[in-house]
Amino acid sequence: MEKVKKTVFSGIQPTGTITLGNYLGALRNWIPLQDEYDCIYCIVDLHSITIRQEPAQLRKNAMSLLALYLASGISPEKSTVFVQSHVPAHAELAWVLDTMCYIGELNRMTQFKDKSAKHADNLNMGLMNYPVLMAADILLYGTDLVPIGKDQTQHLELARNLAERFNNRYSPTFVVPEGFIPKLGAKIMSLQNPLAKMSKSDENVNGFISMLDDDETIRRKLRRAVTDSGMEVRFAEDKPAISNLLTIYSLCSGVSVADAEKQFDGLGYGVFKDAVADAVISALAPIRQRQAELLEDKQYLTDILRQGAERAESIASKTVAKVYRKIGFLPRG
Ligand code: AMP
Ligand code: TRP
Repeated sequence: MEKVKKTVFSGIQPTGTITLGNYLGALRNWIPLQDEYDCIYCIVDLHSITIRQEPAQLRKNAMSLLALYLASGISPEKSTVFVQSHVPAHAELAWVLDTMCYIGELNRMTQFKDKSAKHADNLNMGLMNYPVLMAADILLYGTDLVPIGKDQTQHLELARNLAERFNNRYSPTFVVPEGFIPKLGAKIMSLQNPLAKMSKSDENVNGFISMLDDDETIRRKLRRAVTDSGMEVRFAEDKPAISNLLTIYSLCSGVSVADAEKQFDGLGYGVFKDAVADAVISALAPIRQRQAELLEDKQYLTDILRQGAERAESIASKTVAKVYRKIGFLPRG
């Protein structure tokens, strides 16, 4: 049966509170897609345990992330919102794909190398298999488009390769997905080191803005943000810190980068940083307030997850059944 609408799938890990980088690079771009596509937005908790998580905190983070999805504008009427561990097909397809993915391919993954260096005391197989599970997430739903930040392009490429490999070995089964990476904001950098990605796991809390930081904290972190030499507010390769702040400003205020350069011409970094803070605060404060309200009604949130898991499972379990049949597993009868 031809699909009427194309399918979008994406996910974020419930590890800590997501950052402005996650929001500008990923979550925010999910919202407008809801009108044109069948969107499936997942809380990828299976992925998150590749790094040690405290159980009570993990539960809390997952609810908090769900409320942030909704507060940011994801509509449970339009989209399917669910938790990865609620749908067993993800782990099932990941196993099959594991057997078709070469160790060398996973060994080459930049994120695996980075995380291995950072978590040398916990070099578990899940950390290495992480991109295969992500491929399973995407391929289960016949996904056409995957909105992600730039750091995920290598993982998406693997998902495409695994889809093609399976299709060639058996018969056409999986849609080969495309990435959807924003022109601006695909990689928001740390406020303390403009050569490193803004990350929620940064030991220096001044490096990132959390989606739940209060107004004062946002302003303080932006005032403390490192800058480049000179004093011009200009987007340029030799000005990575200011370019990052201009990106953040443009995305939060709606003013283009070129117009922002004119707006702050000759005003210096101090005035500029305060304006960035104003823009970020007005983008995040309403989301934070709405998230807090949503978290008051756990029953509502739980109902959304139950419905989301049912919808997701009805698609995903069919894909797994088809895959098992093609592989040659005996039907249960
Ligand atoms: P994660 O927090 O690793 O689950 O990431 C969730 C999504 O946010 C993925 O699509 C990432 O590519 C995106 N993302 C993470 N950090 C950044 C960043 N600093 N800038 C832009 N996008 C990001
Ligand atoms: N690996 C992604 C990240 O760390 C999260 C993720 C898991 C994902 N499964 C996905 C993103 C499927 C897009 C599609 O950012």
